[in-house]
Amino acid sequence: MVLQERNKKVPSDIEKGEIVQVFTSSGRLVGTGYFNPVSKISLRMLTFKKEGGIKSLIKRRIEEAYKKRKKLLKNTTAFRVVHSEGDLLPGLIVDYYDGYLSVQINTAGMERLRDLIINTLIEQINPRGIYDRSDRKVREIEGLETDNRLIYGEIPDNIVINENGIHFTVSLSEGQKTGFYLDQRKNRQTVSQYIEKGFIVLDLFSNAGGFGIYCYKKGADYVKFVDVSSSAVKQLRENCKLNSIGNFDVAEEDAFDFLKKESQRYNMIIIDPPSFAKTRHEKEGALRGFKYLILKGLKLLEKNGYIAVFSCSFHVTMDDLVNVSLSAAQDTGSILEIVEFMYQDLDHPVLLNMQNTLYLKGVLLRKLSANSV
Ligand SMILES: C[S@@+](CC[C@H](N)C(=O)[O-])C[C@H]1O[C@@H](n2cnc3c(N)ncnc32)[C@H](O)[C@@H]1O
Repeated sequence: MVLQERNKKVPSDIEKGEIVQVFTSSGRLVGTGYFNPVSKISLRMLTFKKEGGIKSLIKRRIEEAYKKRKKLLKNTTAFRVVHSEGDLLPGLIVDYYDGYLSVQINTAGMERLRDLIINTLIEQINPRGIYDRSDRKVREIEGLETDNRLIYGEIPDNIVINENGIHFTVSLSEGQKTGFYLDQRKNRQTVSQYIEKGFIVLDLFSNAGGFGIYCYKKGADYVKFVDVSSSAVKQLRENCKLNSIGNFDVAEEDAFDFLKKESQRYNMIIIDPPSFAKTRHEKEGALRGFKYLILKGLKLLEKNGYIAVFSCSFHVTMDDLVNVSLSAAQDTGSILEIVEFMYQDLDHPVLLNMQNTLYLKGVLLRKLSANSV
């Protein structure tokens, strides 16, 4: 199929996800992509070069992505193998969990290439099992059904991964995302390196407990975890057991409600909420949410304590996080030092040409003074 710029109307004879060659109105080849007339993003480009064949291109890209991870990452048995546009494979996510794969196919174009993708993964990675977590809402927007099932081999109910010597149990069928928040791996290390012996830690929106468990292992005395999801809390309790976390509490509730009544003081507070702004129209509300969380956090934070604030929404920028933190600092009369800027880990590559591949940002701040100097 051929798409030309001149042809301004969406051609009705292109099937959902069909591979198309794209030309300028003067007939110059722009490249090859896939098209979906029912999606908001109707065209996703796969290449801007003349390629021998799309199948060999997809195979090669998966191979390159996997090779890159093996070079990049040490000390973990779980990592992202394919990060959608970040690996020039729009609509495809593949995560590796200690010999098993969790796959998300999010677009009609990738769905048409499903067999090729799965066969390539089996050939390249030789996994013991592959689980299909194509259960995200985006599939409905693409006109696809959702899926959550084993598609190859066998997979235990829980897989235990080892991240920097810390163990986490992962359920590929029930865990959030494809099972675990791999994108925060590097930041769990960064934040926890500031832990001092005896620190009291608050892990807000803790999910399976990643940040809090790292902090405990680095010498914290006590961790309070807060998450509203009962399945995340179940996983978190198992992870605490696995890592011999002795002194902790879990509040299975809404973090905003929790903060309304909390009075305990902390030395480290981690705020890692779900995406508050899935579209740019939701950004203002998202920033109000962040302001509330940081403000409450600063009131509970001891002098010289740390607060880490994360956003996993592309629409909330690092500047937004810094500015909203400043505003909360001014309202509470705190002086904050910027200790670290943080981003998604390296197995979630960022393309300069496609800015929405940089979605996870975080800032670690230290409270120098409770009142203005
Ligand atoms: C981005 S994830 C946190 C990831 C985690 N910090 C990690 O490193 O694995 C956000 C978490 O917030 C939880 N959540 C969503 N809304 C919440 C709310 N209103 N109150 C508390 N937890 C919430 C979700 O269940 C999810 O586990």
